[in-house]
Amino acid sequence: MRSIKISPSILSADFSRLGDEIQNLEKAQADLIHIDVMDGHFVPNLTIGPVVIKKLRKYTNLPFDVHLMISPVHKYIKNYAEAGANIITIHPEATENLESSIKEIKSYNKKAGVSLNPETSVDKVLPVLHLIDLVLIMSVNPGFGGQKFMEKTLEKVKILRKEIDKKKLKAEIEIDGGINFENAKKAKDAGVDILVSGTTIFQENEGDLKRNIQLLKTG
Ligand code: DX5
Ligand code: ZN
Repeated sequence: MRSIKISPSILSADFSRLGDEIQNLEKAQADLIHIDVMDGHFVPNLTIGPVVIKKLRKYTNLPFDVHLMISPVHKYIKNYAEAGANIITIHPEATENLESSIKEIKSYNKKAGVSLNPETSVDKVLPVLHLIDLVLIMSVNPGFGGQKFMEKTLEKVKILRKEIDKKKLKAEIEIDGGINFENAKKAKDAGVDILVSGTTIFQENEGDLKRNIQLLKTG
């Protein structure tokens, strides 16, 4: 069994004390910090931008896994790179030229990710799979935490797992949305490397972050 990394989504954290929340996630053995950036246009919700991410940078050495749900994304990539993102993930629908946006991310020495909405075909990412570090499979429609996991999205995970293994590519597979202790195992079996989780990590077991991260890893 591959070892699974956990990327807690701070969308479910207390936004008035994000620095503390991030330090608590590091103590609880999170592997990455998932930061959902929403613009109220590409998705119907609004969160934080590069100014906040830059301020959060000093609270942890864990990699910032920045999920950009903004459109048009290309001209803002630089701001997130300079704010301290380690992985920058974009949606194909949010850029005129996916390959050039991937190159833009790489030009700042950042890891590049491409995210597929539940209705977006895996064909959108296959042509650039060899160029990227991460595929983020959305298992809910992006915009809000606490939604129900869409099981059909695991089919894309299986296709990508095969393709990545067959071609010996470096891209990791991450899944985002509605992950809980039950479906985490299904996602791992389908071939996921990284689980994103907000609601489960921050709300189950009275918010016991360490226990919840451990349960997602081993369950
Ligand atoms: C949804 C976000 C997710 C979300 C996950 O648009 O991309 O990262 O915060 O939250 P849960 O785990 O609550 O579905
Ligand atoms: Zn996300």
